[in-house]
Amino acid sequence: MREIPIADPDIGPEEHRRVQEVLEGGRLADGPTVRSFETAFADFCGADHGVATSNGTTALETAIRALGLGEDDTVVTSPFSFIASANAIQLAGASVAFADIDPETYNLDPDAVEAAVADGEVDAILAVHLYGLPAPMDRLREIADEYDCLLIEDAAQAHGAAIDGRRTGSLGDAACFSFYPTKNMTTGEGGMVVTDDAEVAERAARFVNHGRTDSYEHATVGHNYRLTSIGGALGLAQLEKLPDYTAARREHAEALTEALGPVDSITTPTEPEGFTHVYHQYTVRTENREMFRSYLDAADVDTAVYYPTPIHRQPPYADHEVTAPEAERAARQVVSLPVHPGLSAADVDRLTTVLRAYGRIDDPREIEEPAAAVEPGGESDD
Ligand SMILES: Cc1ncc(COP(=O)(O)O)c(C=O)c1O
Repeated sequence: MREIPIADPDIGPEEHRRVQEVLEGGRLADGPTVRSFETAFADFCGADHGVATSNGTTALETAIRALGLGEDDTVVTSPFSFIASANAIQLAGASVAFADIDPETYNLDPDAVEAAVADGEVDAILAVHLYGLPAPMDRLREIADEYDCLLIEDAAQAHGAAIDGRRTGSLGDAACFSFYPTKNMTTGEGGMVVTDDAEVAERAARFVNHGRTDSYEHATVGHNYRLTSIGGALGLAQLEKLPDYTAARREHAEALTEALGPVDSITTPTEPEGFTHVYHQYTVRTENREMFRSYLDAADVDTAVYYPTPIHRQPPYADHEVTAPEAERAARQVVSLPVHPGLSAADVDRLTTVLRAYGRIDDPREIEEPAAAVEPGGESDD
């Protein structure tokens, strides 16, 4: 592991205590702990219902199905996301369409969505809140209403993000979260469908549990996409810490943006007026990506590229005719830096020192040993 890793899940005494209670209680699979987590997480989002799932992908598939979408339906989404956003649409039996992204926010460009919706037979918009920044949900809602479409949130990366104080999970007809270990909060593997619609919630709860209505009564075909009670216990502990995690991510992001401000070759993330970014990733754009990454690598700082290949360039989607130049450009230029709450003050200090030093080098290609140029604490703030 790098000295400053890209992610570092925080599991402490509270997680141990809650998991221990589950282990001692003996109810390991679905049960009251999962129900409590569903209620607490939906409340946090400002939504009426939560249905826990085995991961974020199954949450998406479940929500799409529970909204009544399937064969003969088309869902438009971003080609610049984790492939699960598109896979879930296909797994629910619907067809995927792609609309290009806004180059500043990396989220769906509403004009591109409107063109796709006006052009074809689109039944739903699946908006991804990429890197922790909400998609432009108010505009997308107008489009959805005008063209009679459903609006779904892929909030896998955006726990607690908001628009004008309205949190993700309350911004669409249904929303889906992932609790994978690198996410803003974790249950190990896990996910959740969140919605205000009682019928959608009921259909989702049935689908993740073999269509079960009673002990051995099954109204529909379904799956076993349930979350374990161990996951529920972890989720309850992590949810309590989420506000602190978010505050730390935002504070780290601010420090990174300040350090990178003077670096002309790097574009830092934007946070539009009224939007609350929760920085699942702190992602910058640069034409010199490989050089920047090598520089950070030599300084023992982890980086990652989310995502180097747009979804429509992946083999399962290669037959889609897609015009998405901004998604393609972003895939060539973005790079994410460590921003997680596990960074210590000394880590942030070192990271910002390294980044400032990068900005002071006219031609970073001339650096042979970048780490040597940025001894911890060795740079002033000029
Ligand atoms: C945008 C997005 N959607 C969906 C998922 C799928 O979540 P999971 O990995 O829990 O299945 C992820 C997880 O990486 C994601 O980042």
